[in-house]
Amino acid sequence: MTTYHAKLVGTGSYLPQRVVTNDDLAKTIDTSDEWIYTRSGIRQRHIISGDETVVTMACAAVEEAIERSGIDRNTIDLLLVATSTPLKYMPSTACLVQAQLGLPAMPAYDINAACSGFMYGLKAVSQWMASGDIKTIVLVGVDAMSQIIDWQDRSTCVLFGDGAGAAIFQRDTKPGLLSVELGGDAQYADLLATQGTGVNNQQPSYLKMAGSTVFKKAVKVLASEVHCTLARNHMHFDQIDWLVPHQANIRIIQATAKALKLPMSQVILTIEDTANTTAASIPIALHSAMASGQIKMGQTLLLEAFGAGFTWGSGLLIV
Ligand code: ACO
Repeated sequence: MTTYHAKLVGTGSYLPQRVVTNDDLAKTIDTSDEWIYTRSGIRQRHIISGDETVVTMACAAVEEAIERSGIDRNTIDLLLVATSTPLKYMPSTACLVQAQLGLPAMPAYDINAACSGFMYGLKAVSQWMASGDIKTIVLVGVDAMSQIIDWQDRSTCVLFGDGAGAAIFQRDTKPGLLSVELGGDAQYADLLATQGTGVNNQQPSYLKMAGSTVFKKAVKVLASEVHCTLARNHMHFDQIDWLVPHQANIRIIQATAKALKLPMSQVILTIEDTANTTAASIPIALHSAMASGQIKMGQTLLLEAFGAGFTWGSGLLIV
């Protein structure tokens, strides 16, 4: 029996035109570029304005990925959107993207695993491909964190931005997406959560975060996860060409690179320009490095993320 794998064939991304720098934020809250940059590695973030939404951002990223992959859009058989800031409760953002792009009828659904959403999406890609039923999958990570941020709360608003990234996978008999390992532990759910109660919410549902506890847990979990991922695939750190991490905090990324014994020159970084775009972080970073030629065909990538839930994931991808 043939074993099917997922091969990455194209990527795309979208960042809103409007840029908000640390200095801009320092005009409205008690913070500074120096504090934000030293603690997080962030200089600026892109924020939606005008007609921009998660749907328009996702569509732009998918259009670019279709163009770069050279695939016929009518051959796409599955659309997955990782987001925790959907435009509507229903229909899903995936269905809204499908409609706006005029894609053919196909299964389309959202995945909400906060900052780990793209990794949870990759697991779905891997399993759908292995099932043999599907040949072409579009996976999008998109979030408009600006919509759930209290712009007066300096402990959260400096860390996030908006954006979208897309990746297209096709069925292949050669390994591409080697493995994806996921984890979660909801005993920490309250440490990083919106404060409203979904449909019953009477108040704006802002994100609150116990920053330093989240930071410590992220560092610990990711160091252990990346080792487990390598061990399960009988691989050694020197077989990794690039670490493509979730872009939450440069210090978390540095700690993970150190655990992998990878120099920072082998880490893909966008955080300075984008801040934390939640589910969009990894595909934006992946696309920026693919498009610039930093990542070359045949190289092996280690992807990882940690976020609300807590949820986490790591995986290996040969491009
Ligand atoms: N500007 C200036 N001072 C600030 C700011 C700010 N923007 N924010 C907080 N401070 C103050 C605090 O009030 C505190 O002051 P105090 O000592 O007088 O009380 C001081 O700075 C230190 O705050 P800490 O929280 O201890 O600073 P820390 O070094 O931990 O860095 C940070 C904070 C950047 C938030 C860090 O904890 C972090 O990155 N946490 C993890 C974020 C993350 O990875 N999230 C997961 C993904 S998000 C998702 O899934 C949606």
